[in-house]
Amino acid sequence: MIRKVKGTRDILPPESRLWVAVETVANRIFSGFGYEEIRLPLLEPTELFVRSVGEDTDIVSKEMYTFADRKGRSLTLRPEGTAGVARAYIENGLGQRPQPLRLSYRGPMFRYEKMQRGRYRQFAQIGIELIGASTPQADVEVLLVLHCFLSDLGFDDLVIVLNNLGDPEDRPRFIEKFKAELEPHRAELCSDCQRRWNANPLRILDCKVTRCRELVADTTPVAEVVSDEARAHVEAVESGLDGLGIPVRRSPRLVRGIDYYLRTVFEVVSPQLGEDTVICGGGRYDRLISDLGGAQVPATGFAIGEDRLIDVLPGSFRRRILERPTVAVLPIGDAAHAAALAVAKTLVTQGISAHTEITGRSLKAGLKWAAKIEARAAVILGESEISENTAIVRDLEKSEQVTVAREKVPEYVAELTASDGKS
Ligand code: HAM
Repeated sequence: MIRKVKGTRDILPPESRLWVAVETVANRIFSGFGYEEIRLPLLEPTELFVRSVGEDTDIVSKEMYTFADRKGRSLTLRPEGTAGVARAYIENGLGQRPQPLRLSYRGPMFRYEKMQRGRYRQFAQIGIELIGASTPQADVEVLLVLHCFLSDLGFDDLVIVLNNLGDPEDRPRFIEKFKAELEPHRAELCSDCQRRWNANPLRILDCKVTRCRELVADTTPVAEVVSDEARAHVEAVESGLDGLGIPVRRSPRLVRGIDYYLRTVFEVVSPQLGEDTVICGGGRYDRLISDLGGAQVPATGFAIGEDRLIDVLPGSFRRRILERPTVAVLPIGDAAHAAALAVAKTLVTQGISAHTEITGRSLKAGLKWAAKIEARAAVILGESEISENTAIVRDLEKSEQVTVAREKVPEYVAELTASDGKS
């Protein structure tokens, strides 16, 4: 037997319904705020991620699926979406369109990570990017979209944590202070952090090794070594969010695991998954597009990990989607088959889910099958129903049935399914 690749998943029905439902909500909220979908390749030149995400990040140094194609070009399965959006923005001259540009995306990303709950090697992200606005209001809008989306799904226990990374110009001052504080313990850092010490000391802040975390916990938080402009920017974001009634918690040590961020960074954590398995990450990346050879265009955005989001979906949303009632259409005898599909068509076009029995089961076997698929009702078409243009509508919970005119079937069925309050 051939098995799936480690770290990938088969999303089976009915679980897949949750994915479709979550994506439908995302489409509605994102497009409502003006974010239009951009669909990008899963394969990009490796250099794109090296130059954007950063050479010393875990993603680039350990987790990418990189290979040479048949002509020897180094390609990488995208580990995230923002770099591709920035590349596409430059390559397609999207700076010519009215700014700011609001884009959304979703789809698979690939990172060679150690498997655990909520951590996969192929996972899906749903994200938005707001490109061409440097104001705090842009960050506020992005967080508002995020909040609206999560609220619409019924979440009430998620926490948005936010921090100020300052500007790249603030980094040397921070790094000097940070290294001076850490110097007495330098030898205790893990081998990766020994390398990061010179290459990219900021990355020591998101090392997952326990001892490194302990040592870092006593150093001055990055948010305390930022310029007045950066401080004012993030404070304006916080007061904007406060004005909209969106609670956020300051997390002065939050740095995120990607190099392109500056000023505002944020994550969404769930009490169910803990602080290490975040649901969403995002922030401002004003230098990314210019670093990749484009114009100086500020931008901000986020990406939600869809696998994790679905893992902790509120029960109310989950039930509403998974308990969607369905109807079994049961033709008895050859003459009834075409009529059965015609009834199914009418039901489906009126928004009622209908499964038609198409294997030639007897009525008894058909009713058993209807029970197995947890149909709420059965529409039975026998010889006399066909000749009289009627149908039997059977309530499968109460085991009661009525014979109704064929055109009244949707009405009866709708009443039955609606009476459950979960149509
Ligand atoms: P990220 O924090 O690396 O940010 O990823 C965003 C989200 O993807 C995470 O918060 C997490 O929920 C999910 N995720 C990451 N790795 C895995 C995994 N191995 N298994 C399951 N889920 C995972 C970014 O990717 C940025 N591009 C976000 C962004 C957009 N910043 C600005 N715009």
